[in-house]
Amino acid sequence: MTNSKKRIGILTGGGDVQPLNIILSSVKEAAAKEGIETIGFIKGWQGILSREFISLSETIVPSDIGGTILKSSRINLAAVEHGVEIVSEVYKELGLSALVVIGGEDTLSNVFLVPEIPCLLISKTIDNDVGTADDEFINYFTFGYPSASEKIVSFISQEEGLRSTAYSHERIVIVESMGMHAGWLCLAAGMGDPDMIIIPEVPLDYGRFLERALEIFINKKHAIIVVAEGARWNDGTYINAIPDEGLGFMHPRFGGSACALSAKMKSDLSKRINTRNINYVNPSYLYRSGRPNELDRIMGTRAGIEAVRIIREKPGGSFFLAIERKGDGFCISPVRIDAYSSMNALHRFVKDEFYDTEKYRITAAAKKYLSVMVNEKNEKEYGFR
Ligand code: F6P
Repeated sequence: MTNSKKRIGILTGGGDVQPLNIILSSVKEAAAKEGIETIGFIKGWQGILSREFISLSETIVPSDIGGTILKSSRINLAAVEHGVEIVSEVYKELGLSALVVIGGEDTLSNVFLVPEIPCLLISKTIDNDVGTADDEFINYFTFGYPSASEKIVSFISQEEGLRSTAYSHERIVIVESMGMHAGWLCLAAGMGDPDMIIIPEVPLDYGRFLERALEIFINKKHAIIVVAEGARWNDGTYINAIPDEGLGFMHPRFGGSACALSAKMKSDLSKRINTRNINYVNPSYLYRSGRPNELDRIMGTRAGIEAVRIIREKPGGSFFLAIERKGDGFCISPVRIDAYSSMNALHRFVKDEFYDTEKYRITAAAKKYLSVMVNEKNEKEYGFR
């Protein structure tokens, strides 16, 4: 393609999240103001490999709906024969001057394989596992995490979610959260006042857990337990997972931890309670579906504008666009990616101080962290129990 107009590329990869179209729309609009054309690759890195793309500048982007009009894939460039070379070729062929890569840890990791291409990395995943969780909290949240956190809280809370049916029927309801290796979404459920949460970072001491669950059930006559899809038993094995296959990143396929945990509890408690009343729910893809919430919308728009500003003002460099907590609000802070050798340095897990391993509950420190993203909803006590 030959054209004298400045042109940038953009792609979305990995699990979709609610604010992707907002970010696409914002990049497109900001670029248009600078006279830059935006090329959108279809299905993430796959679209570069197969030379499948559209002029995003000439496409209507529905910023009010979730998902991504550019579609998605989970391509590990290192696992594709000549993958890295093809990406470099296509980048040159199209006369691009930068690539905006919107993805989670996996999608963003491909950037490190093409260091000659100036990339703007925008992290999105409901898993919230891209950034650091040290005192500075580099990248306070990933796009999609605020929206998904609101969803999980509403799914379990007394006002809007499962608590009402759980107490009416005197049941133990086990709810599965997404989150492969990091328990951030499960932790967010803690803002909806569940009785226990089980995160992947802390292997489950099943005997102790079972006695505590039973104690809560006997006292309250119902219980809500949230378990992450990637939660593990004490011996380190996953509660439920099957091996992945294909060109991806070879993560196990999750989904089913709530079902498996519920089956085990039914079997182990069969002589002590009516196990008809142990049920499970897996909202699964509902967590990342629907419209983005306000915070995702505002910051998604800003990220798009900031990406184009950096392309214009700092050409040639690759930057991770971190969401930084500033005063009472947030801003987008560019961090040069040469500060990191790979995405591993930006893979974060739930901090110890955020999870009470004795009670299987969210801590006050975690509530403080989450309170700027999602409102806390507490169970109220009515009449008799
Ligand atoms: O990567 C984000 C995520 O939402 C994980 O929590 C989940 O395991 C995964 O996507 C599942 O996505 P898919 O089934 O689309 O591969």
